[in-house]
Amino acid sequence: MGQPAAGGQCTVVVGCQWGDEGKGKIVDVLAEGVNVVARYQGGANAGHTVHVGEVEFILHQIPSGILHSGKRCLLGNGVVLDLHQFVQEYDELRRRGVDLEGRVGVSHRAHLLLPYHRLLDRASEEGAEEKIGTTGRGIGPAYEDKAGRRGIRVADAIDEERFAELLERGAARAREKLQAMGGFDAEADAALDRALEESRDLRSRLLGLAVDVGLEVDLALARGERVLLEGAQGTALDLDHGTYPFVTSSNTTAAAAATGIGVGPTRIDAVLGVVKAYTTRVGNGPLPTGFDPEMDEHMRRLGGEFGATTGRPRRCGWFDAVLARYAARVNGLTGLAVTKLDVLDTLPEISICTGYRTPQGVAEEFPADTWGLESVEPILETHPGWESPTHGARSLDDLPPRARSYLDRIQELTRAPIRMVSVGSRRSQIIHVH
Ligand code: GDP
Ligand code: IMO
Ligand code: MG
Repeated sequence: MGQPAAGGQCTVVVGCQWGDEGKGKIVDVLAEGVNVVARYQGGANAGHTVHVGEVEFILHQIPSGILHSGKRCLLGNGVVLDLHQFVQEYDELRRRGVDLEGRVGVSHRAHLLLPYHRLLDRASEEGAEEKIGTTGRGIGPAYEDKAGRRGIRVADAIDEERFAELLERGAARAREKLQAMGGFDAEADAALDRALEESRDLRSRLLGLAVDVGLEVDLALARGERVLLEGAQGTALDLDHGTYPFVTSSNTTAAAAATGIGVGPTRIDAVLGVVKAYTTRVGNGPLPTGFDPEMDEHMRRLGGEFGATTGRPRRCGWFDAVLARYAARVNGLTGLAVTKLDVLDTLPEISICTGYRTPQGVAEEFPADTWGLESVEPILETHPGWESPTHGARSLDDLPPRARSYLDRIQELTRAPIRMVSVGSRRSQIIHVH
């Protein structure tokens, strides 16, 4: 028997590829009809783009519901909160006219990502034989401290003296590591001191926003409200289920939404997976359906495929149905949102990968062997392109028949029903499938 059913509706929005699927756009569209939006993992490695009219916002830590006035936006315990970056993002949104009064809350249980985590991230990438190609935001070292039970949580800032002492201790440990890694000179040391002083100064601002996120979400659901749990990164970047070690340091998949917010799994009613109509990846690691350099460049231009956080070019490839089907299973998807369909509008032919040819035979399931994945040959099924614009479509009937059959095939191979199709970066450029 589960818990008594809550009156509200709780939906997880999760990335089903290597991140940047358009989660920000989808959350922004859905936020209109909900009361609360909460992030459950990751940190400022995320870059979620939302277009409101002509204006672009890139959100790193604050949930993508923030651009709808009155919606409550929370950062759960599973997030690693970069205090400096968070305050900057908050102030920048306010400067741009977003009313944030009483709208943002952070979990007392969230771990702080401190200036030394960024330094450790960069130093470890520089020294690594096998570079992950991280965003350099300090994510790995912050989660290492959390798992190593050395982390500093928001609640640790309540006692000013203790907070200062914990920061001191964390910095001393980091200094030792940084010195051993090399390149940490007196100038870098002094800059770290200054940054930590700023962290201490931000204490009261942080505490002013600290709440019990799990309790708040639970109460909202009990009142019959609607809640969105916004994932960051994507399934193939999940620490357990992704292409390890070329992953991020948190669980990105839907199950992590329960632990990362502090609600029971029985509180979650729906899981919406977001996939691009093709595939992209930024950072290192295998991309089985990756294009040759010329097509890669072409798609990057068509799709504007540059990282929202780091500006790095994203590698591009065909839609990988093996990965999408795996994501549908691992996340328990109840629906699919397909984004960036319009990016394919001009292509004469469009392929979908239905399996991988490996030395052991054809694989239809996403393999655990990351190194083997580097050399699989994608089995491609080629469809004629629709070669006409889709950005004005607002229902499936408005789409060219070939675009509809492309979507049908994605749905059939992924085994998850398509609920939304995005045909442009703006709010209005969306098809709701009923
Ligand atoms: P996220 O990290 O999953 O939120 O995705 P990003 O914001 O990093 O990257 C998605 C990019 O695609 C952003 O620049 C969006 O503005 C853009 N985008 C989202 N949906 C669509 C769409 O349907 N069509 C087009 N052309 N662009 C889109
Ligand atoms: P959103 O939420 C795309 C990738 C990095 C790198 C790996 C590890 O915008 O979809 P990290 O800094 O997390 O230790 O880097 O994960 N990565 C992302 N790629 N979108 C993201 O977030 C990402 N966050 C991390 O490029 O390969
Ligand atoms: Mg992104």
